[in-house]
Amino acid sequence: MTAGEDRPVPSGDSDFVVVANRLPVDKVRLPDGSTTWKRSPGGLVTALEPLLRKRKGAWIGWPGIVAEDDEEAAGIDDVDHSEPIVDDEMLLYPVRLSGDDVAEYYEGFSNATLWPLYHDVIVKPIYHRKWWDRYVEVNRRFAEATCRVAAQGATVWVQDYQLQLVPKMLRMLRPDLTIGFFLHIPFPPVELFMQMPWRTEIIEGLLGADLVGFHLPGGAQNFMILSRRLLGANTSRANVGVRSRFGQVQIGFRTVKVGAFPISIDSAELDQKARHRDIRRRARELRAELGNPKKILLGVDRLDYTKGIDVRLEAFSELLEEGRADRNEVVLVQLATPSRERVESYRLLRDDIERQVGHINGEYGEVGHPVVQYLHRPLPREDLIAFYVAADVMLVTPLRDGMNLVAKEYVACRSDLGGALVLSEFTGAAAELRQAYLVNPHDLNGVKDKIVAALEQDPEDGRRRMRALRRQVLAHDVDRWARAFLDTLAGDPGADTSQLVDTEQSDRM
Ligand code: ADP
Ligand code: G6P
Repeated sequence: MTAGEDRPVPSGDSDFVVVANRLPVDKVRLPDGSTTWKRSPGGLVTALEPLLRKRKGAWIGWPGIVAEDDEEAAGIDDVDHSEPIVDDEMLLYPVRLSGDDVAEYYEGFSNATLWPLYHDVIVKPIYHRKWWDRYVEVNRRFAEATCRVAAQGATVWVQDYQLQLVPKMLRMLRPDLTIGFFLHIPFPPVELFMQMPWRTEIIEGLLGADLVGFHLPGGAQNFMILSRRLLGANTSRANVGVRSRFGQVQIGFRTVKVGAFPISIDSAELDQKARHRDIRRRARELRAELGNPKKILLGVDRLDYTKGIDVRLEAFSELLEEGRADRNEVVLVQLATPSRERVESYRLLRDDIERQVGHINGEYGEVGHPVVQYLHRPLPREDLIAFYVAADVMLVTPLRDGMNLVAKEYVACRSDLGGALVLSEFTGAAAELRQAYLVNPHDLNGVKDKIVAALEQDPEDGRRRMRALRRQVLAHDVDRWARAFLDTLAGDPGADTSQLVDTEQSDRM
């Protein structure tokens, strides 16, 4: 359907609409057949949820539950305009996915094609034409759902790699809208992106937005180069005449702004929570429950192969073996949220991690005192904060990560200036958190040395580092991120144009 066709395009009454694959809450079916809601996993929700609440916006997304069959999905996948779920003044509009949608659009194209391609092909991306067709179809469904919710002239903010075609589809349906797009994961180098059989369609999809945002200037730059290469003069689509220059891509008469907007967290809120007496007490209890070790190492991740959980386990294992970490004094706690469990590479990863944990405990643990404590479940927010407060060394070792909010959360929780952050150079966060113990996760000896340095840091040096890290995280919170993006989108002359990217700029890491 296009704007030119006879069928009237509907519109709704929300002036500010976020569109993401997931709603901030997941609907969960209980064993007795009833349903309840729980917080959805991942950093996108962590960042956007407090923001949407404050702005009383509308949120369109999948409620995380699979419709029993295609027929059920077909009956319920339309947004029920009259009845959004009202959650503390935020309006949630569910887009239902059938079993086949989940298998082909979500697990398939989103998480077995795009996710590995955009994360430096850590595992091999799978290209299936059927998955692509479903991706197009589900993106169209999100775009149509958005039309029914967005008021005339509304601002629509489309999120992440699952919905890259929505900006163009929306623009064709509703040219009255102001459309922003933000990518929460890395945008790959040109030579990797060129593998994608539907590379031109994806770039065209994104260019439907008025502003396309990335975490880092390198991602924005890759995007501008690809726009020119795939849509510019001398290609089969030369009719549009694409030029890119400082912070913008020109397509015919339209200008698309392109910028880098490093996302963050609600730092002040986390800082405040972590100072609370109950959290401090819970942190002391946790240490006691762990057997009062001298040092606690902590990892907090979705169970994802990009996160380098295997790297830190390998480093810890070797440090124990070499006696550089004392098995009687040090405990590693790995909290791992289950993720994408039906995708094969995730199943294999889980097996690997659990084998590694078993091996380390078998070699170095004692009865009742494992050296690695591994929980495969999401923790309540308060418990997680208590872990951050208790941890002496936070291990964030991804092979590639768009930002990594866990690193920022840890820093926000350390008003005592205690603790040390070991952080991979291959995260977006490393561009800001320069005083962390930065590591190359491919260099195991380097990782081991930095873990030892963090364990043995001079307390005064540790406080100095943490003070600097906190200054960065507290000053650059998620509100500032959203304001920078939305002001630029609105064309506010006061917007910080340093976020817009020069085509000549490089340095992806
Ligand atoms: P990603 O978005 O790839 O999952 P981020 O580090 O950016 O990675 O965000 C992860 C979010 O999920 C953070 O807000 C973190 O607190 C939360 N999280 C991760 N693991 C757990 C866990 N085991 N229990 C509770 N929350 C978790
Ligand atoms: C990352 C992605 C999000 C995604 C989240 C959780 O943060 O950028 O888009 O929602 O992981 O993954 P899931 O597949 O469970 O939604």
